[in-house]
Order: sequence, then structure tokens, then C-alpha cells
Amino acid sequence: EQIEKGGYDHFMLKEIYEQPLAIKDTYRGRLLVNEAIIKLSGVEDNMKRFLNADRIIIVACGTSWHAGLVAEYIFEDLARIPVEVEYASEFRYRNPVITEKDVVIAISQSGETADTLAAIKLAKSKGAFVFGVCNVVGSSIARETDAGAYTHAGPEIGVASTKAFTTQITILTLIALRLARAKGTMSSSDYRRQLQELELIPEKVTEALKADKHIQAIAETYKDSRNMLYLGRGYNFPVALEGALKLKEISYIHAEGYPAAEMKHGPIALIDENMPVIVIATKKGHYEKVVSNIQEIKARKGKIIGIVTQGDVSVRELADHVIEIPETLENLSPLLTTIPLQLLSYHIAVMLGKNVDQPRNLAKSVTVE
Ligand code: G6P
Repeated sequence: EQIEKGGYDHFMLKEIYEQPLAIKDTYRGRLLVNEAIIKLSGVEDNMKRFLNADRIIIVACGTSWHAGLVAEYIFEDLARIPVEVEYASEFRYRNPVITEKDVVIAISQSGETADTLAAIKLAKSKGAFVFGVCNVVGSSIARETDAGAYTHAGPEIGVASTKAFTTQITILTLIALRLARAKGTMSSSDYRRQLQELELIPEKVTEALKADKHIQAIAETYKDSRNMLYLGRGYNFPVALEGALKLKEISYIHAEGYPAAEMKHGPIALIDENMPVIVIATKKGHYEKVVSNIQEIKARKGKIIGIVTQGDVSVRELADHVIEIPETLENLSPLLTTIPLQLLSYHIAVMLGKNVDQPRNLAKSVTVE
């Protein structure tokens, strides 16, 4: 096992550090920047189904559901296709309205999650076209879907999902960009820019990982907290949810993710000097509005950890700590903002002596209801 961990203390840490390579493996052979082409045979072969779709319904569980939420922003923003994101467990029992014009995208790292598999079978029985985004080749979901695209992230052993999440977002971005080009919802210059920026993400993830020591010190400061709040807006709202989930899963500290603006409808009541608030406040994501949310937290003495773009000034003045990430396009920012949140929960869990790779009560893949 030590050999398998490749010199890292835990699989989770290894998998966090594998992300630059995993993301590259996801787009390798599919993202052809010089030719300005995205090649995804599962999409190409079924282009009519995608282009005729009234909407896309995304079904998933856990972290994969969070990737689905990011995809909702990506598909609607870039390709102008309406998207609904569903917990597979709710969708399957709701008697949902599904038609032959629906495209269902099922997202699953393991490809074995029972609820997701059942949701796929239901959608197929109603005539929908079902596309799978899986990591495990030949898995049940990969076999059950009409077409799909693998993430090629390599085996993920840590129960808390890390590289599966960022590679899911990568492949979903490729799909959305391909559809945006086919539908003409994006200019060719914007499209080229997107491809160029996506290609640069692995090195920017490497850059983001350099904050590890700094994040470790922040973890030391807050490891004994009872609660933490994670806030983000737009593309980074699902990242806030995912950050909170990571902390809960492995450190057993209660954490909530919230859309930053929604804070005043509830969570603000919890904020005092004992509440660390992690705020994703990157330059392009409604920055001014998030800064004003940060001021509200500060006025209530909450401790602020800002995830900011390199060179940020405004948040730095207000926050107790900032963690910088490189600049990128807004729709690609979740691939970077996620990194410090993974490291923060990892270090807190290690400091608390928790079983990081196999947290209590959790399974890597939930194959029963
Ligand atoms: C379990 C795992 C999570 C995962 C979820 C969905 O809860 O612990 O890490 O996100 O299942 O799994 P899937 O394999 O379908 O992505």
C-alpha cells in the first residue's frame, strides 16, 4: 500500500496532487487547440440528439452531483441549453416528466452508484437519450448508458472524491464547448480562447497546489472549530457546497455551503467570532458583491478565509487569511478554487487524527439504496 501511495501519506493527498496530470489525461486527444477542435466521439455520433434536446437533465449523487451543478452553469452560459440537476435518489421516485427529446447526463466516478443507475434505467424507459460521464471503464453505468465519455482520471481510492470532481468538470466543459460551437452560441474567437485557457489549467492547478504549506497553517488555526461556512456565487456556488462536503466527510466538522447572497436569509445568524467563513471571491465572479458579503461577515466578527485571484487587494484588506489562485476564465475557475478547499479539509482531518482515506460510515461507492 505504501508503494501505491507513491510517497504520499494518504491516497487523498496523492489524488489531490495528481490533478494536473488527471486533467491533462481527460482532455488528451480530445482538445486540439491548434486546430480549434474538440473531439468527443460519444457527442459527435449523437449530435442530433444533443442539438434537438429541449433540455439536459443531469442525474448524480454526492460529489458528482456537485460537478453536475457546475455543469448547469457551464451548459446554460456557454451553450444556452436549459439544464436541470437532480439527485438521482429523488429523481427516480418522483414520477418525473421525461420525454424523448430529453438528454440525460449521468455523472458517476465509480459507475456503480445504485440510485444513479436506477435513474438511468427510468430515463431510458421513457425514451430519453442517456449519456454517461464515468471514471471506471466498463462499469455498470458506462454499460447502461447510450453513449458517454470517460474522465480517464485513473483509479480514485480515497473515499472523499477529489480528482474525479475536477476531471468531471473538465469533460463537461469540453462537451458544453463542443455544443456551443455546433449551436453557434459562441464566437470563434471566444471559443479559441476557451480552448487555450482550458489547456493551461493543469499548470495553473500546479500553481494553486503551491499554497499547500500556507493552507496547512490555516488548518492549524481552525482545526478545533465546531462549524464552518463556505460561500460562493455563480460558478463557485457549487464549489462552496463541495468544499463543505469535503470537510464534513473526513474531519466530521459540521460545515455548510451556501450561495453567498443567500447568507442573509439564514446563515448570517450563526456568524460570530467562532465561525470561520471560507469565501470564494475570485476576480470575475460577481467580485464586488462578494466583497460586500465579506464586509457583512466582518461586521459580525466572523473569521474570513478568502479564496482570491493572484494580486487581489480588496479581499486581502478585509480577510483574516487569503489563499491565492491563478487567474482564468470565470467558467474554468471551479477547477482552481476547488484545490485549496480540498487541501484545507485534508490537513484539518490529518491534524484531528481522522482516517482520511476511509472516513467512518462512508463508502467509496454506494451500490445499495
Ligand atoms: C459516495 C462517495 C462519494 C461520491 C458519491 C457518488 O458517497 O463517497 O465520494 O461522490 O458516492 O459516487 P459516484 O461513484 O456515483 O460518483
